[in-house]
Amino acid sequence: MGSLNLVLASTEDYRRKAEKKLPRFLFDYLDGGSYQERTLAANCADFEALQFKQRVLYDVSKVSSATTLFGDDLAMPAAMAPIGMAGMMAQRGELQAKRAADALGIPFTLSTVSICSLEEVAKVSDKPFWFQLYMLKDRGAVVDMLQRARAVNVDTLIFTVDLAVLGARYRDVRNGMSGGLNRWAQFRSTTLSFMGHPSWAWHVGIKGKPHTFGNLKAYVPDASTPTDFQAWIAEQVDPSVTWKDIEWLRHQWDGNLIIKGVLSPEDAVAAVNAGADGISVSNHGGRQLDSVSSAIAMLPRVVDAVGDRCEVLLDSGVRSGADVLKARALGAKAVLIGRPWVYAAAAGGEAGITSLLNTFKSELQVAMALTGVTHTDQVDARILDRR
Ligand code: FNR
Repeated sequence: MGSLNLVLASTEDYRRKAEKKLPRFLFDYLDGGSYQERTLAANCADFEALQFKQRVLYDVSKVSSATTLFGDDLAMPAAMAPIGMAGMMAQRGELQAKRAADALGIPFTLSTVSICSLEEVAKVSDKPFWFQLYMLKDRGAVVDMLQRARAVNVDTLIFTVDLAVLGARYRDVRNGMSGGLNRWAQFRSTTLSFMGHPSWAWHVGIKGKPHTFGNLKAYVPDASTPTDFQAWIAEQVDPSVTWKDIEWLRHQWDGNLIIKGVLSPEDAVAAVNAGADGISVSNHGGRQLDSVSSAIAMLPRVVDAVGDRCEVLLDSGVRSGADVLKARALGAKAVLIGRPWVYAAAAGGEAGITSLLNTFKSELQVAMALTGVTHTDQVDARILDRR
């Protein structure tokens, strides 16, 4: 995309604009994957490799992308994935995202490590939203956050389980995001980065304050910067968690429970046995273990194993409305849209997210019409060309 483009259209357009607007270390944090980034690449390449079977001369004068999930109506089979620190990419980014999700009619998921707190997001509207949580060593904090979530109209908990240990991203290491820079080097690199991105520095760096992790402030009273909070999170990641802890969690939470980060049929069965209402087939957007299979490649086996016992969702690699349809064709009830909404937030704020979501929706409807289906319930593997 050259700088002459007047209107941003695709996820890639928003990605490139975000790359220009964000300080390098933030763009890399958002865009990067772990180690050689093989799984990150495979997530998208495997979607691209799937082809539709075009069908013609069906009556497609009325096409609906709507669906239901956990009894709720959704404008399309998608929700917005939890993304940590979205409030560093756009001014109070989580609030802008919640507004865009509400306007389109899909759920917004707030990350544990968001800049805006549960309580701040709840003030956007009366519409319920989803909250994502990790198992922290401090189980008191876990229980407290569940209570806070319940109190502010969260109806669905996404519990992320693929972070037993932290994967490393070489881009973050190079940028000093994972430590390795002394205080002076950090200050110098941050200052240079801000000076090179004055619009971000003003709108987010200054007007977007405070840059604390809103949900965690109460448990880490001395922390004042994202780096302080990240250090706390790194200490709090609990590698000893097992499915027994998920059973415990099930007793603490009476809303919908989605286990996110399942990438095998065996773990999918374990999640359902532990009481999950849904799972998200995911490799954390290629940010944890590199060289695992893509989410879309694993989806059919997971659907075979548990598709009739819980809602199967998918995230990692969804970049367009066509990808939403491909995931649905292979048995996902819905997808989580991850990086694309944050690229759009960084590039164009709430209007950017709204525009991107509308593009997803219309692209999904066009793909449905030209594969000969008019309702998401009719979508199955027959719309794919499976030579
Ligand atoms: C994430 N993801 C994530 N997941 C989660 O459960 N809690 C979190 O706080 C975060 N934070 C986060 C930050 C950033 C910058 C990224 C890119 C991702 C993972 C996210 O929910 C989702 O699984 C992936 O983004 C899906 O991959 P794609 O489609 O974005 O490539």
